[in-house]
Amino acid sequence: MAQGGGVLKGRLRVPGDKSISHRSMIFGLLAIGETRVEGLLEGDDVLRTAEACRALGATITREAPGRWRIRGAGIGGLTEPSGTLDFGNAGTGSRLMMGVAGSHPVTATFDGDASLRKRPMRRILDPLVQMGVSVVAEAEGGRVPLTLRGPAETIPIVYETPAASAQIKSAILLAGLNSPGRTTVIEREATRDHTERMLRHFGADVTVEPHGQDGRRVTLQGQPTLRGTEVVVPSDPSSAAFPLVAALIVPGSDVVLEGVMMNELRTGLITTLFEMGAEIERVNERDEGGETVADLRVRASRLTGIDVPAARAPSMIDEYPILAVAASFATGTTRMRGLHELRVKESDRLAAVAAGLAAAGVPHAIEGDDLVVHGLDGRVPGGGTVATHLDHRIAMAFLVMGLATRDPMSVDDGSMIMTSFPTFIPLMRELGAAIRD
Ligand code: S3P
Repeated sequence: MAQGGGVLKGRLRVPGDKSISHRSMIFGLLAIGETRVEGLLEGDDVLRTAEACRALGATITREAPGRWRIRGAGIGGLTEPSGTLDFGNAGTGSRLMMGVAGSHPVTATFDGDASLRKRPMRRILDPLVQMGVSVVAEAEGGRVPLTLRGPAETIPIVYETPAASAQIKSAILLAGLNSPGRTTVIEREATRDHTERMLRHFGADVTVEPHGQDGRRVTLQGQPTLRGTEVVVPSDPSSAAFPLVAALIVPGSDVVLEGVMMNELRTGLITTLFEMGAEIERVNERDEGGETVADLRVRASRLTGIDVPAARAPSMIDEYPILAVAASFATGTTRMRGLHELRVKESDRLAAVAAGLAAAGVPHAIEGDDLVVHGLDGRVPGGGTVATHLDHRIAMAFLVMGLATRDPMSVDDGSMIMTSFPTFIPLMRELGAAIRD
């Protein structure tokens, strides 16, 4: 339960980026030699990916909090896992690893929790089948549990992704690593580019060209030798979003978030909040592990509702639940356009956010793929309990909301916060937040 009354003050550093943490393990597995990772997110999702990488032949050790070493098996060198690869709640881990295991001559079974079992995997299986991967078994509608059997080498393809999804792009590129030719992924809208950046960092030849107005064409030369290297994981902007919005909506707050990754394919929320009038200062910009990071000084702000264009969705796809919270406290209406992909996240996030807004007494509507929130100018009643549907971001968003509502907000289950931001509650408490178990 979260309740208002206090102010939020202080500095904090949120954990490492989830996308880069998953990929650190995966590239560590596919490299020859040793990869050393600093700042790894030790959330359940990433730990499941680490387990899967072990099952496929990597030797992985944790040396200190956030500091891990991975001795890889190398492209073409994976071993057949002896049991099911259980990815828990993790869409990214499971989908990327389908590209990895599916591109090798091993049989691998993928499974996960009740949330993952509902999520569409056809978007990954379709291109993998074109690359020569066999789907030996699958649950109804192309879902986990499913079993893949890979070929000795994958067939190189040119593939245009049907949805703006870094997971689809990444699964194909990872499968293309064990291919004798060039694999090309075309995306109509650019999505997060961590896979491309890390492929290069580990020694692969990747070219990225513009495609149309907002898209990209990414080409990978297959069968490179990836070499183990150092990876420094910057702080996750998708986790920083929660204390950031908390500081904006709790009157009198003044918070510094340290070292947040500012990759421009991830900063749509900050752009949007600026447009809404948020006082966010971006200071001390520097490079950390090949990404720009900055400290963000955030002060409580009077926000104004705006129209958020659909084209911005890929750069803030995980941030809509917390943006809906910010919009609830704004003056006027916020329209978030083009949110169809939110229906296939850890929960149907469009429905879960709408139900949470209803529980808090915030007027809103779903119109086609748009979410419309009528802001209450800082006076949100609250007082409800929100069903989280095994979705960490729904849990964190509505706990943040409760820090500024008239009556406390509760969530039915906060356990999934462990998947991406295990230190969320203690860090928020250090800032002065009243969040109780
Ligand atoms: C991710 C891609 C996004 C995002 C997820 C992480 C990644 O998913 O929602 O949290 O690391 O590639 P989609 O590719 O399905 O949009």
